[in-house]
Amino acid sequence: MSVKKILIFNWKMAPQSLSEAKRLLTNYKRPITNNEENKKEIVVASPSVYLVYLSSLSSVVGRKSSVKLGAQDVFYENSGAYTGEISPKMLKNLGVKYVIIGHSERRKYLGETDEMINKKVLAVLKAGLKVILCVGEPTRSIKYKVESIKQAKNYIKKQLEKDLKKVSNIKYQVSRNLIVAYEPVWAIGGSHSDTPEDALEMIKYIKQTLNSKFYILNSRVLYGGSVNSKNIGDFLKRPEIDGALIGHASLKVEEVKKIIEIASKIV
Ligand code: PGA
Repeated sequence: MSVKKILIFNWKMAPQSLSEAKRLLTNYKRPITNNEENKKEIVVASPSVYLVYLSSLSSVVGRKSSVKLGAQDVFYENSGAYTGEISPKMLKNLGVKYVIIGHSERRKYLGETDEMINKKVLAVLKAGLKVILCVGEPTRSIKYKVESIKQAKNYIKKQLEKDLKKVSNIKYQVSRNLIVAYEPVWAIGGSHSDTPEDALEMIKYIKQTLNSKFYILNSRVLYGGSVNSKNIGDFLKRPEIDGALIGHASLKVEEVKKIIEIASKIV
């Protein structure tokens, strides 16, 4: 069964004003309408403060558009005294469809633990939103490559075991609503991506683990980490790589256009 590939653009904390966010989002519109056939699913993960306004831009993120809005984080309760937090329900009521959870920058700078991430994953799936769960090992040695890939697999297996705990108890369509982004931490930052061959090996491993440990069969698994218009084709042309999570390049108009155009030529 061929799966629809997905491109997730993560703006992180880059746009500093609403007008900047609006201008950025408008750039995602044109290349898509030009490529009606073989459309890719496109998600723009904006800082939360802009989501209310961006969700009203129906010409870009309307029902018929293949561009959808995503959040970069969420809290794990639906209401209560949690100052500063945003609930899955709030996002859902706004029309947001996707939520990134467990990005390595949140794990590192905000001290997000696997336990918190697991609660978020469960809450978001229960709310009927799609989870983009980020996993990835912190380092990889080029010199001791075989050993290092083995260690990376172990690291990710442990992350998945903790982050997806009790996920099989959820009655909703878990495999459809769960997307895993393999983001080796050392490859994030826009300058040094993983090789498509190694990313493919890791992605195949993640799929096997989802299957054997959680009975999750058809979840999409993406690659993220310094993806740009020059390397996106090499990742996406592998049938097992179901898409990409794009950080830095998502802020550059020409890059976005090229990435979407290249992706639209790959089935
Ligand atoms: P990058 O970011 O494309 O800038 O490496 C990817 C990410 O952090 O999701």
